[in-house]
Amino acid sequence: MSKLGKGMPQAITVPGLRERKALGQRAVMLTAYDYPSAHIAEDAGADILLVGDSLGMVIQGRPDTLAVSLDQMVYHCAMVSRAARRSLVVADMPFMTYHTGWRDAVRNCGRCVQEGGVQGVKIEGGAKRADLIKAIVDSEIPVMGHIGLTPQSLHKLGGFKVQGRTADAAEQLLRDAAAVEAAGAFCMVLECIPSEVAREITARSGILTIGIGAGPHCDGQVLVFHDVLGLCDGPLPRFVRTYGEFGKQMREALTRFSEDVLAGRFPSEEEAFHLSPELAKRFGAKDDDAGSATH
Ligand code: KIV
Repeated sequence: MSKLGKGMPQAITVPGLRERKALGQRAVMLTAYDYPSAHIAEDAGADILLVGDSLGMVIQGRPDTLAVSLDQMVYHCAMVSRAARRSLVVADMPFMTYHTGWRDAVRNCGRCVQEGGVQGVKIEGGAKRADLIKAIVDSEIPVMGHIGLTPQSLHKLGGFKVQGRTADAAEQLLRDAAAVEAAGAFCMVLECIPSEVAREITARSGILTIGIGAGPHCDGQVLVFHDVLGLCDGPLPRFVRTYGEFGKQMREALTRFSEDVLAGRFPSEEEAFHLSPELAKRFGAKDDDAGSATH
């Protein structure tokens, strides 16, 4: 049954996304981590809401994604799924939830579907994850691949660095992309790789490529919600385009609230509850006060 009622926009599905590749259509993905961010991102046109393990950084304030747990991912997925009416919701499987064997992986992905309400999962890694991706897809759970800079490989890679810059590394990325597709993934993220390599992968691939720091030739693009909106302090990677300064606006609004409280300007009489005029008098109100009293 469709997620949507009559007259509502058509829900994005995995087969629908596969069709887009054939039709040469683009796709928009945004991360979302909770009910309000999912609503806003969906209303803004996101086809896919990725409950990214970037939540470890932008929600939990950690330096990387490695400490995010499966329980936390399920919790965030459930909030995002409750908001989504049109967008496809994908769980970003956290570090160590799919590294210890396919049975663990299938069970953990299944929790994101059953408890988190998602329609797909994202798995980091290329050719070496092909068998695993196939096992998850064979369990009826759609998989989004993710190659290039895979943030869960942070320590192995020695930092958040652009991947695929040598001929060998670029060739390996082409093999990774082909393996992920052959394993049954319905689309794949290309993160922080040279534009030329992303263009070649996109041209060869029969599934949508969704780029982040991978140049303009991908079939779609993804950015982190907080980065797009300017909600985080500190320097951002060069591939991020920020479309607002909402962190600044929030700080200004909250500062005005603090100033009003300290100056006695908040709340006003209109923002308070009152007794009836008769009762108000018994509690010490003067005649002047009682006139303005309403419930
Ligand atoms: O965790 C995340 O937000 C991601 C995307 C940026 C692709 O993996």
